[in-house]
Amino acid sequence: MRAKYGKMLWGALLLFFISGFGDPGRALADGGEGKKIYEAHCLSCHGVHGNGQGPATRGLSPPPPDFTDPAFWENRTNSFLFHVIQNGLGSMPGWSDTLSPGSIEDVLSYIRTFRR
Ligand code: HEC
Repeated sequence: MRAKYGKMLWGALLLFFISGFGDPGRALADGGEGKKIYEAHCLSCHGVHGNGQGPATRGLSPPPPDFTDPAFWENRTNSFLFHVIQNGLGSMPGWSDTLSPGSIEDVLSYIRTFRR
């Protein structure tokens, strides 16, 4: 009996760490994780300030939109943007192979912070 409980305890601890609760960075979900994801995968096109002026945008037509423009956010729901990030749009690739749904939510919260 004792040994069995011991195993369960280790299993629970392992789950705890795998699921990321043990990572203090996780507490900052959108700010911390979203920013890291943005810098790794999105910044090259969407730019440091989210205005669509990244270094890798030459020749992209249409160019990336300006996330600082309130008009951009007006007619776009969260679920629409989630879908676009997952599946891509125009010359932007989809990210479903690279980013988990949770990471897509984090990066989406982060790009919202660019709004003026
Ligand atoms: C290769 C350059 C490139 C990269 C890298 C890139 N994007 Fe884009 N993104 C674009 C372009 C170009 C558009 C405009 C597409 C269009 O309107 O046809 C766009 C559009 C968007 C839109 C707006 C869609 C709409 O409703 O008009 C969102 C949101 C977005 N990208 C998020 C992201 C996120 C998040 C990442 C990183 C995970 C990312 N992009 C990485 C080029 C890129």
